[in-house]
Amino acid sequence: MNIFIASGSPRKNGNTQQLTDIVHKELTKLGHHIQEIWLHDKKIEPCIACRKCQRDWTSYGCFIKDDMQEIVNQVMESDIIVLATPIYAWYCTPPMKAMIDRFVYGLNKFYGDEIGPSLWKGKTLALITTCGYRPEKGADLFEEGMKRYAKHCNLNYSDMLCARHLGYNVEFMDKEKEDSARNFAHYLHSLQL
Ligand SMILES: Cc1cc2nc3c(=O)[nH]c(=O)nc-3n(C[C@H](O)[C@H](O)[C@H](O)COP(=O)(O)O)c2cc1C
Repeated sequence: MNIFIASGSPRKNGNTQQLTDIVHKELTKLGHHIQEIWLHDKKIEPCIACRKCQRDWTSYGCFIKDDMQEIVNQVMESDIIVLATPIYAWYCTPPMKAMIDRFVYGLNKFYGDEIGPSLWKGKTLALITTCGYRPEKGADLFEEGMKRYAKHCNLNYSDMLCARHLGYNVEFMDKEKEDSARNFAHYLHSLQL
């Protein structure tokens, strides 16, 4: 399968990336083709609600000239979209939020005078998160938001891998987290899309 991973942490050796690296390596071993991007290195402007993207039902069609068209091309080539982010104020980090806002309009032609198609219908969405609170109190709102987002966009929501950060004086990675990251990769592999 083609798997697109968007990494939203500002910390290149941080907790989220440690978890994502294991998933990435395992999926590669299982024979999948992975394209991973680092969102903080990309230029992603916020959506300005001009709705010019709604004029064309055949392509992304956003008029803002930045890195989003290249990101959309990668998304359109993929079977699974993985959003990897630390939880910031109960949601994802700013460049990821800007990216998912730009997807929700540009790739869903629902916002013009007539209701058009979802251009990314049928793709699978998965999440990798890390947070300071227990996952059910730290990452629950983001997961719920993304489940609703997936339903709205006609994507198939799969699952979330979430690991807790116990503090900057505690080593983040341990055997249990490594195993859960590998298991998550095997779960995505088993989807056989
Ligand atoms: C600005 C900021 C906001 C945060 N907000 C939350 C939050 O709402 N809930 C939570 O559980 N953890 C929160 N955290 C903790 C991070 O999610 C956690 O430390 C994460 O593992 C950091 O990942 P990273 O090493 O990839 O940056 C926050 C951290 C920062 C820096």
